[in-house]
Amino acid sequence: MIRLSDVTYTYPQSKEPAVKKISLTIRKKEFIAIMGRNGSGKSTLARLINGLLMPDLGEVTVDGLSSLKPENLVEIRKRVGLLFPDPDSQLLSNLVEEEIAFGPENLGLNPIEIGKRVDTALKMVSMEDYAKYPPYILSGGQKQKLCIASLLAMQPAYLVLDEPFSMLEPRGRKDLLSLLLTIRRDFNITLILITHNLEDAIQADQIIMMNQGEVINMAHPREILKMGTQLTMLGIEPLELTTFIELLKHNAGMSIAHDTTDIESLVEAICHLS
Ligand SMILES: Nc1ncnc2c1ncn2[C@@H]1O[C@H](COP(=O)(O)OP(=O)(O)O)[C@@H](O)[C@H]1O
Ligand SMILES: [Mg+2]
Repeated sequence: MIRLSDVTYTYPQSKEPAVKKISLTIRKKEFIAIMGRNGSGKSTLARLINGLLMPDLGEVTVDGLSSLKPENLVEIRKRVGLLFPDPDSQLLSNLVEEEIAFGPENLGLNPIEIGKRVDTALKMVSMEDYAKYPPYILSGGQKQKLCIASLLAMQPAYLVLDEPFSMLEPRGRKDLLSLLLTIRRDFNITLILITHNLEDAIQADQIIMMNQGEVINMAHPREILKMGTQLTMLGIEPLELTTFIELLKHNAGMSIAHDTTDIESLVEAICHLS
């Protein structure tokens, strides 16, 4: 369990805190989405969760380990893997397998265990055939999967993904999200996904909505959608009509023609149903 109590953090050169008085709990195995406009504090929250930053006020604990105690930091960073938006900035090695071995080597594991972890991590992201490839020839999506494999080789309990799809096309985004959801299911890993995309976020167990460094709502996507036009004011693009129609079908059993493309014809279709 990850717990934040009254967490405030101000960057050294800033006057205003980047996150203010945040209290929340994330349970194991949950899928949490974090949303909010640029500058609302999402990345700062991610860095506080994995112990890259320490709170000025309040406390962050990961499975009971407080990041305020320096002796806990190695263990916290092992348990909470943090993926940054730009894979290129994270790739350091000449070969895919070396990239994945890097973390386990730093843990001081023996070569046999390191080899096992590399193989398992490659399998988890379906990249077994790329072990001997240099990372720079991979596509954007493959690089992102490689970064995820490097995190998985540390056997984390939590994965924090900071806008992992921002460099990907819609197709790549969909594939990566479904891979992440499979990993979560098969290996009981808690997923914390920072995303601008409501389509992705509504698949989560809970959405954390941030604004100006504060958590203004943390609730099931159903409740978050009830915020309606307030979402637009928070910088969140509304759901695409197709997603909305899918939700109507799944949650309310309303069958609406797939060629419904605008609000008027949707309203028309719903009126005809009843
Ligand atoms: N390294 C930094 N130094 C100083 N201020 C920063 C730094 N990183 C972020 N900030 C500021 O902290 C606030 C929150 O930023 P951030 O957590 O990156 O938000 P988000 O990820 O939601 O875009 C913003 O006002 C931003 O300008
Ligand atoms: Mg950010």
